This record gives sequence, structure tokens and C-alpha cells, in this order.
Amino acid sequence: MLMPCQGCLPSSRAYAATLFPPHPLTAVHLTHAEPGPRQEHPHMSQKPHVNILSPEFLTNPHPFLKQLREQDPVYWSEETRHWLLTRYEDVQAGLRDATRFSSQSSETFVVRDEFMQHLRPIITHFSMWAVMKDNPEHKRLRGLINQAFRPENLKDIQVRARQTAEWLIDQVQDKGEMEFVNDYAYALPALLFAVEILGMDRSDLTTFKQWSVDLARATGRIDNLDIMLKGQDALLAMTDYITRAINSRIEQPREDFISFLVKAWREESKLTLEEVVAQMVLLLAGGHTTTQNVISQGLLALFKHPEQLEILKKNPEPTRQAAEELYRFTSPAQAPTRIAACDIELGGKLIKKGQGVMPMVVSANRDATIFEQPDELILTREKNPHLGFGSGNHVCPGAFLARLEIPIAFEVLFRRLPNIQPKSSHEDWNMNLSFRGLSTFPVVWN
Ligand code: HEM
Repeated sequence: MLMPCQGCLPSSRAYAATLFPPHPLTAVHLTHAEPGPRQEHPHMSQKPHVNILSPEFLTNPHPFLKQLREQDPVYWSEETRHWLLTRYEDVQAGLRDATRFSSQSSETFVVRDEFMQHLRPIITHFSMWAVMKDNPEHKRLRGLINQAFRPENLKDIQVRARQTAEWLIDQVQDKGEMEFVNDYAYALPALLFAVEILGMDRSDLTTFKQWSVDLARATGRIDNLDIMLKGQDALLAMTDYITRAINSRIEQPREDFISFLVKAWREESKLTLEEVVAQMVLLLAGGHTTTQNVISQGLLALFKHPEQLEILKKNPEPTRQAAEELYRFTSPAQAPTRIAACDIELGGKLIKKGQGVMPMVVSANRDATIFEQPDELILTREKNPHLGFGSGNHVCPGAFLARLEIPIAFEVLFRRLPNIQPKSSHEDWNMNLSFRGLSTFPVVWN
């Protein structure tokens, strides 16, 4: 509901602005791009302007998001043409309430009409992902995706995860250094999920990584046609690759997830061929990128909180509590998308039917009304209802796997390389709105 006008009293936002001055990197504009349902009071018209595609935001979004939570929690982002929801309660509603916030948001990736003619293939593909569907289509596809995580597929997964992590460290231990993102944080989930569970060939992982990076960048830089086109090329290459894998399973079925989907398509008509390909891309690209980002961002966060790092070094396997804190603190899937299914009044604004909405998970997970000392990494944090894996129907189906492999990744790392440290103080952020993380992270040890 709309808040009543506060008369001539100083508005709470104006007051908050004196307590929390705008971040120095943020330009403050007097204009208000997308008018809400009522005339703004003059005292309330000075709104922050935050460009969520700017390098400053993508390098460190937290000061900007804090400012939005406090001053303009339902914020129209002109650069992405989405409403940003930044408070915990609103983000949770955005993720869960499918009657108001539809997931069929693939077209909102096109921020300029003139881009559409070039981006039809990628938009059509996105529209087939389970994450871009509402019920009943979502339920149908999600039921099939869940099968990738059935107990037969995850048998011995803990043992396999540990063996894979140990093997990866064996490859680099004598060198005294590695590029952590590529050599460990990406390689572990890729080997475990793509190869062991989905059935991809190990030799294709390097090519696949580049495709995943290019595709993830496209979802995170929707203002830039060149980046979107590069992502579209990567997507087309991925779909060719997966189509070849599908053909080989038609000729010779195996005990893997691709064969399972092929059967569901050919023998049970539970989905189409295009949908098989789309779910495989979603699983492959989404699964690695997020897990990799928690592992690499998590390590960086630990280096920046030496007292927390000491806790892990003394007892390398993170407790469940510690691991949850790493998911909250890193929040790599920072900005899921929705589209307003009807006119929605929220936070004094009118979100019009058909407009894009981003429930900013990364912001909800730092909301001081829910989390004490939200900007601190506290591995012993007790109350931690973070939204890092989403919420509601679309809650992450890979969370079980991520929760299993990430603690093992850290346990093996700190046990085998107890003196690991960053090679330099430079931070190479990936500039990606959808999947926040590091592009590279050189580390050394002795
Ligand atoms: C730490 C690692 C991970 C994080 C932080 C994460 C985060 C998320 C979030 C926030 C969503 C909800 C998106 C939305 O509501 O629009 C989601 C959905 C999804 N995730 Fe994950 N994820 C992780 C790991 C994985 C893994 C390992 C896989 C697969 C192997 C995976 C596959 C998926 C899929 C298929 C969906 C769409 C589900 C649906 O729409 O029903 N994720 N993930």
C-alpha cells in the first residue's frame, strides 16, 4: 500500500540522506525517470541515481545498494529498464509471488527496441529455460530437471567431489601458484557436474568454459549489443555441441542425464527437442558459474577477514553455518529477473504490467533489518535466512549439490595449501550483473 503523505515534516528519506550521504561515486540527479502513482513531495524528489551496469557498481555494488535500500528501495533503473527491489521483504516477494511477478521475463533482456532484430535467437532460447517459465510449464520442466539430482546420480558424490578436489590440487601443488578461478573454482564444479552427472566429455571443458563466460556476460550486460551478440554466438555453439551429444545418445543411450532427457522427449513426449537443449544449457551455464563464484569470491572474502580465515585454517571443513554465511556474503546470482504480471503498487511506486523487475538478492542478503552487521563475514552467524539460492517455486535445484561441494572445496584447499595467499592486491571482477564474481584470481603458497 502507498504510504500517506507526510505533510511538511522532513521526509524519512531526506532524513536518511543526511545520515547516509550518497556514495561518492554516485551521481545524484533530480529527475525521476518513471513516475509512480502519485506526485512526489518536493522534499522527496532528490533520489539517488545508481547505474547498475557501471564499473563502479559491478566492482562493489554494496554501498550503492545500501543507499537504495535506505532512500529508494523500489527504484527504476533506466539503464536496464527494470525496477530494482532492494529490501529483503520486497525481494522475497519478487521471488516468490508468481501471481504478481511472472518469470516469463526473457524479453526484458532487450533494453533497446533496435536490438531485438539481432537478438531473436538468444531471446527465444532464454524463453525455453525453466527459470523463465511460470506454471504449468515451469512445473513440467522443473520435474525433469530435478531428476538430474536424484539419488542414483548423486551416489558417492561426496567421495567423487573430494577426489576431484584433491586431484586438482595435485596438478598445481609443486608449482607454488595457480590461477584460482580457472584451475580450481571453475574446474571443480565443471568436472563434478558436467562430466560426472550430465555426461559431457572432459576434453571439452575449456571450450565450454569460454562459452559459459560469454553467455553469462550477455545476461549481465544487456545494454551492450556487441557483448550480447558474442553471448549469442557462444549460445549457438553450445546448442550445436549439445545437439551432437543428443544425437549420440539417440544412437547409443548411456546412464547419464542427457540420455534421461532424450528419453523424456522421444518416448514420453514430456518436452520438445529445443527444450532439452535449453535445459542442458541452463544447467551447464548456471551451475558452474554460480558455484565457481562462491568458491573464488569466498576465498577473497576470507583473505579480507583474516580472523575468519584463521577459524577455517584451524578446522578446515566449514560447518554448515559457515558455508551458509559464505553463500549470503557472496550472493553470486545477484539479480534474478521477473516481469510484472499486473500493475503493482510497491514502496510508493507503481510498477506497470509488463515492466521488468529485478529482486536484488545481493541487496536482500545485506539488509540490516534482517542481518546483524550485514557487511561483515561472520562464519559463526546464527540467524541467517539468506536468499542466495532464491525462494519459492524457482528455488535453486542445484543448492543441494552446491552445499555439498563448496565445503569440500574449502576443506581440501586449506588442508593441502595452508599458506595460500593472493598474489597481489588487485581484484579482477567480472563486470557481470547476473553472476557476480572474479574473472581471474592468482594465488601463491610455499
Ligand atoms: C552456490 C551456487 C548456486 C547459487 C548461489 C545458485 C543460485 C540460484 C538462484 C538464486 C536461483 C533462483 C533464480 C530465480 O528465482 O529466478 C537458482 C535457480 C536455478 N539454479 Fe542455481 N545456484 C547455484 C548452484 C546451482 C547448481 C550447481 C546448479 C545445477 C547444477 C544450479 C541450477 C539452477 C537451475 C536449473 C535453476 C532454475 C530453477 C527453476 O527455475 O526452477 N544452480 N539458482
